[in-house]
Amino acid sequence: MVFCACVGLLVIMFAISNSIGKNAANRAAISPTTAPVAAIEPTAAPDPTAEPAPPLLVYRNQPESTPYVSETLIQTIQEIQSAQRSDQDDDIPAEGRQETIASAPPESYVTITDEPLIDETGRAGQPGDPVGIPLLVNAANRLPPEWYPDDMVYLSEYCPEDIVRIKALEIQGATVAVDALLEMLSDAVDQGQANWQISAGYRSYNYQQSLVDERVRSYMRDNGMSRTEAANAAARYVAAPGASEHHTGLAFDITIPGWTFEATEQCAWLAKHCAEYGFIVRYTKDKVKITGIEAEPWHIRYVGKEHAMAMTEAGLCLEEYVELLLSQRSVR
Ligand code: DAL
Ligand code: ZN
Repeated sequence: MVFCACVGLLVIMFAISNSIGKNAANRAAISPTTAPVAAIEPTAAPDPTAEPAPPLLVYRNQPESTPYVSETLIQTIQEIQSAQRSDQDDDIPAEGRQETIASAPPESYVTITDEPLIDETGRAGQPGDPVGIPLLVNAANRLPPEWYPDDMVYLSEYCPEDIVRIKALEIQGATVAVDALLEMLSDAVDQGQANWQISAGYRSYNYQQSLVDERVRSYMRDNGMSRTEAANAAARYVAAPGASEHHTGLAFDITIPGWTFEATEQCAWLAKHCAEYGFIVRYTKDKVKITGIEAEPWHIRYVGKEHAMAMTEAGLCLEEYVELLLSQRSVR
């Protein structure tokens, strides 16, 4: 009996000690300090259809955080730019390049798509929409007469006078753009750049038509142009109804009372900093052939920070940028 009990006890002790040893060995195997670095086994090439392509615009999780542009997009833009540069180099003698581009009449408008690029909310390109494409409005991509931006404010009621003067009581703008405008001009004032004035914001289809008519009449009357000549000349400065960014509520004309804007320090400040606040200077000298509009350093357009930074860094105008985003989207 005693013998049997002793044998049983020995068997149990052996089983326990064996189990402790195995557990210790397991712990050693997963310990980060003791585990040897395992060689990475080569894996089969991933199925290209299985994984989505990296997003062009990357958003952090928190809505209030700043989205940023992915490396993929920057790289693609740089490749396109260098291809464009070599094309231009072939076309234009180096000594006349800037003048040729700046003074050439618009040859054609860029047609991106047959349909206007408006998303359901009219707020394309806003943070939170990682595939949003900025709303493109030009002669080839027109807004319908009845299109109206929702969520607009009167700037004279909304903007503190110590930051910006609003030239007319009826000037309105989309709230998202006016908020960005105020943030920008408030920072500008803090940095010693003041005296800002907003001369234009939202314009309806009919109001834009009246501006075109007025310009055509003045060219016919003062310059002796025919109606066709006057209409062609006017189109370089005043967009046709439906083709004006002012119709979106996302564009503003900034001026400095009593000064030609182009010659001011504020103009230089705006060009340098506006992208940080989500704006682009929409019509520049070097893109006249693409936009069809002569340079307007006072006309800024809200596209959201991520798009504005990407476009500015890459030197692309909105037509080029939207075309790029659409081509990227189509290959994904
Ligand atoms: N002056 C700009 C092009 C507009 O009329 O919208
Ligand atoms: Zn304008």
